[in-house]
Amino acid sequence: MNIAVYPGSFDPCTNGHLDVIQRASKIFDKVIVAVLCNSRKTPLFSAEERIELIIKITKEVPCVEVITFSGLLVDCMKKNNAKIVIKGLRAVSDFEDEFQMALTNRKLCNDLETLFIPTSAEYMFLSSSIVKEVASYNGDLTGLVPDELIPVIKSRFGFC
Ligand code: PNS
Repeated sequence: MNIAVYPGSFDPCTNGHLDVIQRASKIFDKVIVAVLCNSRKTPLFSAEERIELIIKITKEVPCVEVITFSGLLVDCMKKNNAKIVIKGLRAVSDFEDEFQMALTNRKLCNDLETLFIPTSAEYMFLSSSIVKEVASYNGDLTGLVPDELIPVIKSRFGFC
Protein backbone atom coordinates (compact mmCIF):
# COMPACT_ATOMS: atom_id res chain seq x y z
CA MET A 1 0.00 0.00 0.00
CA ASN A 2 1.32 3.41 -1.04
CA ILE A 3 0.95 5.61 2.03
CA ALA A 4 1.86 9.30 2.22
CA VAL A 5 1.97 11.53 5.27
CA TYR A 6 1.09 15.22 4.98
CA PRO A 7 2.40 16.85 8.16
CA GLY A 8 1.71 20.34 9.43
CA SER A 9 0.27 22.56 12.11
CA PHE A 10 -3.04 23.11 10.27
CA ASP A 11 -4.00 25.90 12.68
CA PRO A 12 -6.39 26.14 10.94
CA CYS A 13 -6.49 24.05 7.77
CA THR A 14 -6.85 26.42 4.78
CA ASN A 15 -8.21 25.91 1.28
CA GLY A 16 -4.57 25.61 0.19
CA HIS A 17 -4.04 22.66 2.56
CA LEU A 18 -7.29 21.06 1.42
CA ASP A 19 -6.21 21.41 -2.22
CA VAL A 20 -2.96 19.55 -1.45
CA ILE A 21 -4.87 16.80 0.42
CA GLN A 22 -7.31 16.36 -2.49
CA ARG A 23 -4.52 16.19 -5.05
CA ALA A 24 -2.40 13.81 -2.96
CA SER A 25 -5.41 11.51 -2.50
CA LYS A 26 -5.43 10.97 -6.29
CA ILE A 27 -1.84 9.73 -6.20
CA PHE A 28 -1.68 7.58 -3.04
CA ASP A 29 -3.72 4.71 -1.64
CA LYS A 30 -3.84 6.48 1.70
CA VAL A 31 -3.02 10.05 2.78
CA ILE A 32 -2.40 10.52 6.49
CA VAL A 33 -2.80 14.13 7.55
CA ALA A 34 -0.51 14.40 10.59
CA VAL A 35 -1.26 17.33 12.91
CA LEU A 36 1.72 18.47 14.95
CA CYS A 37 0.66 18.76 18.59
CA ASN A 38 3.86 19.84 20.32
CA SER A 39 4.69 22.98 18.39
CA ARG A 40 6.47 25.75 20.29
CA LYS A 41 3.80 28.13 19.01
CA THR A 42 0.59 28.45 21.05
CA PRO A 43 -2.11 27.27 18.65
CA LEU A 44 -5.49 28.87 18.08
CA PHE A 45 -7.10 25.41 18.07
CA SER A 46 -6.12 22.41 20.17
CA ALA A 47 -4.80 19.36 18.32
CA GLU A 48 -8.13 17.59 18.93
CA GLU A 49 -10.07 20.52 17.50
CA ARG A 50 -7.79 20.70 14.44
CA ILE A 51 -8.30 16.97 13.84
CA GLU A 52 -12.06 17.35 14.13
CA LEU A 53 -12.06 20.26 11.65
CA ILE A 54 -9.89 18.41 9.13
CA ILE A 55 -12.10 15.31 9.37
CA LYS A 56 -15.14 17.52 8.73
CA ILE A 57 -13.72 19.11 5.57
CA THR A 58 -12.17 15.94 4.13
CA LYS A 59 -15.20 13.69 4.53
CA GLU A 60 -15.69 13.61 0.75
CA VAL A 61 -12.00 12.96 0.01
CA PRO A 62 -11.25 9.24 -0.34
CA CYS A 63 -8.61 7.43 1.73
CA VAL A 64 -7.75 10.24 4.13
CA GLU A 65 -6.87 9.56 7.74
CA VAL A 66 -6.18 12.30 10.30
CA ILE A 67 -3.84 11.79 13.25
CA THR A 68 -1.79 13.84 15.69
CA PHE A 69 1.89 13.43 16.21
CA SER A 70 4.52 14.83 18.52
CA GLY A 71 8.28 14.53 18.32
CA LEU A 72 10.05 13.73 15.09
CA LEU A 73 8.19 13.32 11.83
CA VAL A 74 10.41 10.36 10.90
CA ASP A 75 9.15 8.47 13.98
CA CYS A 76 5.56 9.21 12.96
CA MET A 77 6.39 7.93 9.46
CA LYS A 78 7.86 4.68 10.77
CA LYS A 79 4.92 4.13 13.12
CA ASN A 80 2.51 4.51 10.21
CA ASN A 81 4.55 2.48 7.77
CA ALA A 82 4.87 5.41 5.37
CA LYS A 83 7.81 6.36 3.18
CA ILE A 84 6.55 9.51 1.44
CA VAL A 85 6.22 12.94 3.05
CA ILE A 86 3.93 15.34 1.19
CA LYS A 87 4.63 19.06 1.37
CA GLY A 88 2.88 21.93 -0.38
CA LEU A 89 5.10 24.58 -1.95
CA ARG A 90 3.69 28.07 -2.43
CA ALA A 91 6.62 30.16 -3.52
CA VAL A 92 10.38 30.19 -3.78
CA SER A 93 10.45 31.61 -0.24
CA ASP A 94 9.07 28.28 1.07
CA PHE A 95 11.76 26.35 -0.68
CA GLU A 96 14.76 26.96 1.55
CA ASP A 97 13.07 25.79 4.78
CA GLU A 98 11.33 22.91 3.06
CA PHE A 99 14.53 21.76 1.40
CA GLN A 100 16.33 21.84 4.76
CA MET A 101 13.53 19.82 6.40
CA ALA A 102 13.47 17.31 3.54
CA LEU A 103 17.23 16.77 3.78
CA THR A 104 17.10 16.49 7.58
CA ASN A 105 14.32 13.92 7.39
CA ARG A 106 16.29 11.98 4.77
CA LYS A 107 19.38 12.09 6.97
CA LEU A 108 17.36 10.74 9.89
CA CYS A 109 15.70 8.07 7.78
CA ASN A 110 17.38 7.14 4.53
CA ASP A 111 14.43 5.53 2.79
CA LEU A 112 12.07 8.50 3.15
CA GLU A 113 11.26 10.74 0.21
CA THR A 114 9.64 14.17 0.28
CA LEU A 115 7.23 14.95 -2.52
CA PHE A 116 6.50 18.63 -3.12
CA ILE A 117 3.11 19.52 -4.54
CA PRO A 118 3.07 23.04 -5.98
CA THR A 119 0.15 25.07 -4.73
CA SER A 120 -2.69 25.91 -7.05
CA ALA A 121 -2.20 29.49 -8.28
CA GLU A 122 -5.24 30.85 -6.43
CA TYR A 123 -3.78 29.80 -3.07
CA MET A 124 -0.22 31.04 -3.52
CA PHE A 125 -0.65 33.84 -0.97
CA LEU A 126 -2.58 31.75 1.55
CA SER A 127 -1.38 30.53 4.95
CA SER A 128 -2.91 29.73 8.34
CA SER A 129 -1.28 32.92 9.67
CA ILE A 130 -2.98 35.04 7.00
CA VAL A 131 -6.31 33.42 7.86
CA LYS A 132 -5.81 34.25 11.56
CA GLU A 133 -4.77 37.82 10.71
CA VAL A 134 -7.92 38.41 8.63
CA ALA A 135 -10.13 36.64 11.20
CA SER A 136 -8.74 38.72 14.07
CA TYR A 137 -10.16 41.85 12.40
CA ASN A 138 -13.45 40.13 11.55
CA GLY A 139 -12.51 40.14 7.85
CA ASP A 140 -14.16 38.04 5.17
CA LEU A 141 -12.77 34.48 5.16
CA THR A 142 -14.65 33.40 2.05
CA GLY A 143 -12.35 31.44 -0.26
CA LEU A 144 -9.56 31.28 2.31
CA VAL A 145 -10.91 28.32 4.30
CA PRO A 146 -13.72 25.84 3.63
CA ASP A 147 -17.10 27.47 4.35
CA GLU A 148 -17.84 25.10 7.28
CA LEU A 149 -14.82 26.47 9.14
CA ILE A 150 -15.71 30.15 8.83
CA PRO A 151 -18.10 30.36 11.83
CA VAL A 152 -15.78 28.22 13.98
CA ILE A 153 -12.78 30.47 13.30
CA LYS A 154 -14.79 33.68 13.69
CA SER A 155 -16.20 32.59 17.03
CA ARG A 156 -12.68 31.79 18.26
CA PHE A 157 -11.94 35.49 17.79
CA GLY A 158 -15.18 36.49 19.54
CA PHE A 159 -17.13 37.28 16.36
CA CYS A 160 -20.19 35.44 15.10
O1 PNS B 1 2.53 23.65 9.11
P1 PNS B 1 3.95 23.79 9.60
O2 PNS B 1 3.97 24.42 10.98
O3 PNS B 1 4.81 24.52 8.63
O4 PNS B 1 4.53 22.29 9.72
C1 PNS B 1 5.86 22.07 10.13
C2 PNS B 1 6.10 20.56 10.40
C3 PNS B 1 5.08 20.02 11.38
C4 PNS B 1 5.98 19.81 9.11
C5 PNS B 1 7.54 20.44 10.97
O5 PNS B 1 7.69 21.37 12.01
C6 PNS B 1 7.86 19.04 11.49
O6 PNS B 1 8.01 18.11 10.74
N1 PNS B 1 7.95 18.94 12.84
C7 PNS B 1 8.29 17.71 13.51
C8 PNS B 1 9.69 17.77 14.13
C9 PNS B 1 10.73 17.17 13.19
O7 PNS B 1 10.60 16.08 12.70
N2 PNS B 1 11.81 17.95 12.94
C10 PNS B 1 12.89 17.47 12.08
C11 PNS B 1 12.68 17.83 10.64
S1 PNS B 1 13.33 19.45 10.41
